[in-house]
Amino acid sequence: MNFLDNAKKRYSVRSYKSLKVEQEKLDLILEAAHVAPTAANLQPVRLIVVQEKEGLAKIEKAANIYNAPLAVIVCADHSTAWTRPFDKKQTGDIDASILTDHMMLQASELGLGTVWVCYFKPDILSQEFNLPANLEPVNILVIGYADEEPADPDRHGKTRIPLDTLVAYEKFS
Ligand SMILES: Cc1cc2nc3c(=O)[nH]c(=O)nc-3n(C[C@H](O)[C@H](O)[C@H](O)COP(=O)(O)O)c2cc1C
Repeated sequence: MNFLDNAKKRYSVRSYKSLKVEQEKLDLILEAAHVAPTAANLQPVRLIVVQEKEGLAKIEKAANIYNAPLAVIVCADHSTAWTRPFDKKQTGDIDASILTDHMMLQASELGLGTVWVCYFKPDILSQEFNLPANLEPVNILVIGYADEEPADPDRHGKTRIPLDTLVAYEKFS
């Protein structure tokens, strides 16, 4: 499947089968994260793969993961992330999100459903997974086999702002 077809097909899945995600598929998803770019290649990112009942229950104390069998907690390491010298902006969150997007699209290409979750209690997540102070949980990528009707791949004309609102050429208007 070409890139754009996969990107259009992907949608946020909020109902999952209890079926486990195969290790070969998980390996490809993690490889997609591994090859993702980060600012100055500093790789200030860490992934926590959670698929055991106990771990999933820990996440559920902090977030709704829709009973999915697998979740990846994507963390940014603020002690090693690149900082832009002019305004001190750190790119750890951006780096973490690029990895998340790579994994999300790879999972979709493998026929898996995903939902990107930011609505979580970070303090509880950090506590449950004993995260050191420098590691911030930025995203949770929820993964599994969808147990719902797929969204229309041609929905974006209605569900996204118009392309000419999104895009300006040469100057913002
Ligand atoms: C940064 C980010 C955070 C999100 N957080 C949540 C979340 O906490 N819970 C949730 O159910 N969906 C979450 N979503 C999914 C969005 O609501 C969803 O992508 C958007 O409504 C577009 O729908 P689609 O993914 O089906 O195309 C998040 C998506 C992004 C990119």
